[in-house]
Amino acid sequence: MSRPKIVAGNWKMNTNLPEAIQLASAVAGRVNDADGVVKILIPPFPFLTETKKAIEHKATLHLGAQNCSTHDKGAYTGEIAAGMLKSTGCKYVLVGHSERRQYFHETHADFVKKAEQAFAHGLTPIYCIGETLEQRKNGSHYELVKNQVKEVLGAFKPEQIGKFILAYEPVWAIGTGETATSAQAQDMHAHIRMVLAELFDKTTAQQMPVLYGGSCNAQNAPELFACADVDGGLIGGASLKADDFCRIIDSF
Ligand code: 13P
Repeated sequence: MSRPKIVAGNWKMNTNLPEAIQLASAVAGRVNDADGVVKILIPPFPFLTETKKAIEHKATLHLGAQNCSTHDKGAYTGEIAAGMLKSTGCKYVLVGHSERRQYFHETHADFVKKAEQAFAHGLTPIYCIGETLEQRKNGSHYELVKNQVKEVLGAFKPEQIGKFILAYEPVWAIGTGETATSAQAQDMHAHIRMVLAELFDKTTAQQMPVLYGGSCNAQNAPELFACADVDGGLIGGASLKADDFCRIIDSF
């Protein structure tokens, strides 16, 4: 069963407006719509609209956001609603990134609400999961990742579950320069599919895109993307350079 190939660039809290426009324009100038890869740029909120303008002439280059509110609208100063994101042209939104878990203490209950908001406004949630180094060392990583999947996807109806994208991002590999080996990535991605088959069904497990994230770059992407259960990447640092990001896209 064939799944889409996807490469998403999470710029995190980097760039200013001119840099964002320059980066988005440089990526748009290089990507090839004929390669069949779904490409997603995920800039900081204030640059969504200008990023959209820079990429909208490319059919396979899409806009995503790094987070959304658990609320629909109203008196929540400083929050960004999924409906607002949709109105800027976003198609995707990250939910459950480890930095949101770690620094902002977001919980599975929050991620369920955020994904509900995403669906209510026609956005696709990219739900991020992954263990810390300590959890890998003490052998609890398989159970932990299973729980992360169950606690959030388990709250949705079958027709919604089929719309999720997952991103496995081991925390110990994020921004550290230490990437998972292709064997470690494949092993966990296969585990995730097994968990999906157990919780839901085989079709769901086979159809859901599962991306790898964590120090993925132009050098290691070809080996990671060649893994049977790895459908692409969620890229942090290497997405801030157009050339590196485009070489990652070319890695399938
Ligand atoms: P790095 O590619 O910088 O390790 O970040 C990965 C990540 O967290 C993407 O969401």
